[in-house]
Amino acid sequence: MSTPVLDVQGLAYAYPDGHQALFGVDLHVHRGERVALLGPNGAGKTTLVLHLNGILSAGSGGHGAGTVAVSGLPVEKANLSEIRRRVGVVFQDPDDQLFMGTVRADVAFGPANLGLRGEELDRRVMGALDQVGMAEYVDRPPHHLSFGQRRRVAVATVLAMEPEILVLDEPSSNLDPASRRELADILRSLDVTVLMVTHDLPYALELCPRAVVLSGGSVVADGSTYDVLTDDVLMKEHRLELPFGFDPTALPRR
Ligand SMILES: Nc1ncnc2c1ncn2[C@@H]1O[C@H](COP(=O)(O)OP(=O)(O)OP(=O)(O)O)[C@@H](O)[C@H]1O
Ligand SMILES: [Mg+2]
Repeated sequence: MSTPVLDVQGLAYAYPDGHQALFGVDLHVHRGERVALLGPNGAGKTTLVLHLNGILSAGSGGHGAGTVAVSGLPVEKANLSEIRRRVGVVFQDPDDQLFMGTVRADVAFGPANLGLRGEELDRRVMGALDQVGMAEYVDRPPHHLSFGQRRRVAVATVLAMEPEILVLDEPSSNLDPASRRELADILRSLDVTVLMVTHDLPYALELCPRAVVLSGGSVVADGSTYDVLTDDVLMKEHRLELPFGFDPTALPRR
């Protein structure tokens, strides 16, 4: 078997205040997979995501154990700039991602750090903004945009880096139905490995053949998204609920 794009082994983490959020998580994601990371509020999903590009680590103030590697490269201080080129994280809150004066400057920030300049940089920026339908906002200040528009720009900042793996924390929240659909189309069209945290279970089923359920800081299920969503006992036990009227068994099987 090839080296997984994402290889998480025995990952445990307690925040500096002593609250333990992860208890020995194992997760392997291979090239081209799209995996949904499901689980109730407080399960540890965001904590896990923040370990994937080294924002959180045992060394960042908390206590931890285990390892994370991206295409064989360990996530550790010495490798962080390469890790952040490989792993594109779209944060749960777009305001954690956008900090420049214009949309252009925000989307250009990462690729400029990689050394892109001039027309090449411009092409990257406009290409990423086109993908999320935000090209006409390129000269606007991000803080004047709506939440959903900021989310789309946050996705563009990561697409502009052309990462090996795209990690999205709640990408469809606060998006209107058309934008939600367009984001799904983008994610499907990209030739990239995706790990997507979501409470939007129909979205998970539509986009991700595989789902991992995190609950209480541990992986409690890892299988086909269809099997997970139709396992009533598992779903109830981990506070997962399908939206009213949504019945995966009534959909055409893919
Ligand atoms: N900075 C922090 N300090 C201490 N504890 C924290 C901190 N951030 C999160 N936690 C705790 O860690 C646990 C996991 O939180 P996390 O944000 O990873 O959950 P989540 O699965 O992303 O939830 P949600 O679905 O609400 O986004 C929770 O119990 C939370 O209270
Ligand atoms: Mg979260």
